[in-house]
Amino acid sequence: MNRIHSIYVTMLLLAFLGIKSFAQFNYDEDKIPDYTLPEILVSDNGKKIETAEEWKSIRRPEILKRFEESVYGSVLKDSIEVKFTVLKNDPQAMCGKAIQKIVMVSFIKGQDTVRMELLIYLPADVTKPVPVFLGLNFYGNQAIHPDTSIPISKGYVFNSPEFTIFNNTATHTSRGVNSSSWPVERILERGFGLATIFYGDIDPDFDDGFKNGIHKLMDYSDSNNAIQPSSISAWAFGLSTAMDYFETDKDINQNQVALFGHSRLGKTALWAGANDQRFAIVISNNSGCGGAALSRRKFGETVERINTHFPHWFSKNFHAFNDKENELPVDQHMLLGLIAPRSLYVASAEQDKWADPKGELLGLYYAGPVYNLFGLESFTTDTMPEINTPIRTGNLGYHIRSGRHNITRFDWEQYLDFADNIFTRKDE
Ligand code: GCU
Repeated sequence: MNRIHSIYVTMLLLAFLGIKSFAQFNYDEDKIPDYTLPEILVSDNGKKIETAEEWKSIRRPEILKRFEESVYGSVLKDSIEVKFTVLKNDPQAMCGKAIQKIVMVSFIKGQDTVRMELLIYLPADVTKPVPVFLGLNFYGNQAIHPDTSIPISKGYVFNSPEFTIFNNTATHTSRGVNSSSWPVERILERGFGLATIFYGDIDPDFDDGFKNGIHKLMDYSDSNNAIQPSSISAWAFGLSTAMDYFETDKDINQNQVALFGHSRLGKTALWAGANDQRFAIVISNNSGCGGAALSRRKFGETVERINTHFPHWFSKNFHAFNDKENELPVDQHMLLGLIAPRSLYVASAEQDKWADPKGELLGLYYAGPVYNLFGLESFTTDTMPEINTPIRTGNLGYHIRSGRHNITRFDWEQYLDFADNIFTRKDE
């Protein structure tokens, strides 16, 4: 079959299957449908929320529940036993530049155990508990740095010829392949630690009806649907468990943990940070639809598209809002509001129209009133800043960087400055 012929056959097939091509998604600001965002500061029974206390006791729990019910399902707080085993604590890692720790986290229920491996680097010269960045990774712990002492992650991983990953299994050829997104030395040099977990350890990223990964240990028989499974919630649970470990490690300052994530893992960082208020900073890198971007704008990726292609990311209730964004009881500004009053940074990329950069900024902008309740400043304009020109106000930060969907050195420099500023301010 020649190339033209195969394109033609693919188009026919897509048309037959009713799948929309990328061209059918809206990338035009003038074609955004009319929408009204749900009120962030009016409670379900119509009460205007006027104080931080009312937010904490009335509105926050309501919004969290709506997100559980309609979007992500619950973060599983089931009766799973968790065990931490420090497999390695090497004070001379990276030629003496770092302390490397490897912690095996075992999730146990009855006869079943699921394991995730937490890889931690701390500055070698630590004299007091250090602030730490925590983020999930896509290709296995070994992919973040060429350090040959990092065990190769064993779980299901996406094939990536670029990263020499085949048969959904990582091997030694993938050591350090994603290191440009993980500037470990730079993070250490700035006085921070870095902790990461391969997200496939927690729940392999494919639709298997929630039977593998940590879902295997969960009882979803609950007939009233109080618990709805989703992969994003499972990954978020893994992040919270890492925080449980930090609370036991005297080298880590558990009050200064900056949670970050890119793309689907940015959506996960936001949901984990919304649920677990121990995270002091939450950073969303190009999280887009189901992350920081407002769903009602239907710009780039839509709710229907994300649920069709990734049916397991969100709870099955979210599918009821395919092409019905206006009927959602929430929108993503409310997710960002759940992070308040903690620090929150949202980052977009110029070429990443699919993730709707403007929608990501607006998510942050419309979360502002919650920060104001706490006496904190928020963005006073919803105008996009210049490319590569970060904006900061109070506990909020945003930038749009040149280039494509990715997490780059530029992004990292902003996160390091942001965290440095927030944590130094708190130390004073
Ligand atoms: C796809 C998906 C996005 C997601 C991204 C990723 O592009 O449509 O919603 O953020 O994958 O996680 O890499």
